[in-house]
Parts: sequence; C-alpha cells; structure tokens
Amino acid sequence: MEIVRIFDTTLRDGEQSPGFSMTVAEKIRMARQIESLGADVIEAGFPIASRGDLEGTRAVAREIRSCTVAALARARRDDIDAALARARRDDIDAALDGLSGAAHPRLHTFLATSDLHLHHKLRMTREEALEAISSNVRYARERCAEVEFSAEDASRTDIDYLCEAVGRAVRAGATIINLPDTVGYSVPEEYAAMFQKVIEYLDGAEGITLSAHCHDDLGLGVANSLAAIRAGVRQLELTINGIGERAGNAALEEVAVLLHVRKATIGMTTNIHIDKLYATSRMLTEITGVAVPPNKAVVGANAFAHEAGIHQDGILKNPLTYEIISPEAVGVPKRQLVLGKHSGRNALRAALAELGYEPNAEELDECYRRVVALADESKTVPTRALLTIAHQVFRKHGSHTAVAAE
Ligand code: KIV
Ligand code: ZN
Repeated sequence: MEIVRIFDTTLRDGEQSPGFSMTVAEKIRMARQIESLGADVIEAGFPIASRGDLEGTRAVAREIRSCTVAALARARRDDIDAALARARRDDIDAALDGLSGAAHPRLHTFLATSDLHLHHKLRMTREEALEAISSNVRYARERCAEVEFSAEDASRTDIDYLCEAVGRAVRAGATIINLPDTVGYSVPEEYAAMFQKVIEYLDGAEGITLSAHCHDDLGLGVANSLAAIRAGVRQLELTINGIGERAGNAALEEVAVLLHVRKATIGMTTNIHIDKLYATSRMLTEITGVAVPPNKAVVGANAFAHEAGIHQDGILKNPLTYEIISPEAVGVPKRQLVLGKHSGRNALRAALAELGYEPNAEELDECYRRVVALADESKTVPTRALLTIAHQVFRKHGSHTAVAAE
C-alpha cells in the first residue's frame, strides 16, 4: 500500500494563528509528541518572523532526530547588497540558521503566484515573481539538501502561469512542490484537476513529491486533501486539532483516521500511529488552553459518546452499529473503573479530565452516583459507559465539555 507522507505544521501554521502561540519549551514538548506520533516532517517555525520563532525552530531542530524538520522562509525579490554586490536573502538565511542543528533539514520557501496576491500584496509582475522563485530556490538548494517550494494561493492562480512557476522551482532544485489552497476556496474536483495539470506539465513529475496544504474556510480541508492524494499527491500538510490561520488547516487526526478506516477504498496509508492521536490532541489543548469543540471528529469529547436510547442499545449489543472506529483505537484511555461507595471521587475526576470533561462539584456528584450505581450492577465501568454518563450529565447541566476555551 502506498504511503502518504504527513507534514505536520502545527508548530508553524497552527502556532501563528491567534491564541495558539507556544513557548520554546512547549514547542519542544509538542514536537517530541508529534515525532512519536509518526509524522514524517515537522515544520518548526518561520524564523524570520521573530526571535522566539528562530529560537523555537533551533530548539526543535536540535531535539528531533528521526523525522525531517522544516523551516519556512519567504522567497523575496532580489535585494542587492551594495557592499557584497550580491542579493541578500535574510529570510532564507534565518531559516537556515534555525535548521543548523537538524538531523534531516528541509528549507521551505514560498511565494504567492495568484494575480491577486502578486498585484495587490507583493506589487510584483508575473515575470519578477518567476525570477524570484528561481533565484531564491537556487540559493536555498545550494545550502540545504532538501528544498520545498510552495506557490501560495495556488488554487486561485492561472493554471498556465502556475505550471511555469512550478517548472522554475523544479529547475532551480526544489524536489517538493506544495500547492496550497491558502484561503480554503477550492472544491475537491477543482483542486484535484489543478494537480493533474501540473503533473502533466512536469511529464509525470518523476522524482518530485507533490504536496497539498488545505485551509478549512468552507469546511473542505479534509475533502480537498483526499481529492489531492487521489490525483497523485504524496505529501499532506496538516495540523493537530486542525488549528491554523482563520478556520484552520485540514486536521491531521481526521485524515489519518480516514485513511485507516477507509483503506480498502482509498488504498493509501500513513506512518501515523493512530493510537497516539488522542493524547497528542489533549497535549495541544493543555498547552494552548484552547479546547476542541465537543463534536469534533476523532478527538472531540462527544466523538464516542452516545445519547439516544436506540444508539446506546445498539452500542451495547454491538459497537459497530454506531461506531466506525473504537475509542481505544485512537488512544482514548481504556479503563475499567471500579469505584467503592466511600472512595474514588478524585479518581473519577481524573478519569473525566482524561476524556476532556472538567466537572463542577454538582456534575461530579451526579457522575459519581451514576458510576457507583453501574459499578454495583456490573463491577466495572468501561470507557464507553463513562463517556455516555459524562455526556448525559454535562448535557443536563448545560455545561461545556473539555478544557474551556477561555
Ligand atoms: O496557506 C498557505 O499558503 C501557507 C504557505 C505558506 C505554505 O501556509
Ligand atoms: Zn497555510
């Protein structure tokens, strides 16, 4: 089965969105977790953006040994340094500095290619942008063995011009070509057609890895990522909990579980250890203090909770009736709670916290009464039953689940 490489950009695209900034120590902790999750590439930061971003990238690059570490840099118009009589490349130099301790470094440089961005944002002509792509990618490739080029706003770029831009990047030495749906505007067929055209233009794209990077402004991030791999893309850029600019990026946990659950239909897989998804999601919410919505696919507190009587009855008879994946498969802790009459409130509070619930005193009391009643009857309280109890109690009290998004 073919492998789709996962490029995790939680620490860059995710971290740069409001409310998600992390300290250097937090970035290291998160990067270690993402490495153990099985991501192939971790984008550690955008070093020219700030001192903190540079230090965070350096620290992650030194720490992570088994996967590739990427750093982002703008491809800029040539700025000739009179003293040195050569173009200055501050962005790429900062990214190279950030990557200096990396075992497997990747320089990721980008330039917008849509007329909208070129004209209104960059005030560059198409020809100037092509020149900048060639010279920046070449400069990066002379200093870093692996270079990725992203054509920002690719999905709104004139397709013939996009092909020309990609051709320039490839000829200058980029081996990974990322074509983002920067503003989450594309629909799946359109996004797939763009990749097919580029693959044709590159004559099959032998030796080039095509990459998709989908924002979720219309809720199509995962659908567009799926369409892209069906068109020949073999790298997906994703974030934990789908965090990222505006409506976020396609969520890593959703794509990994999709390719796992529907592997017979899709025929592609990832190196992600799906049993670590829940812990990874929880670590991010704990570090940032921002909860995932309760109904979020795969990692939301209600993702495995069943409320309707018919559903509960079905689940007890055979979980497959209403669950396409078990909570344990994505790492929701498997527990058989045994609670006595006079003990166990703290254990129950801890168990609820692991599942994303933070009960007040009244909610804890009610959960406790129900758990003890169940334990009296059946000796143990499995995770699925605890999720159902918590869901019902929190619903009744009108509380939000999980760590509040203050
Ligand atoms: O959304 C986007 O276009 C990006 C690029 C910089 C890769 O994040
Ligand atoms: Zn992005």
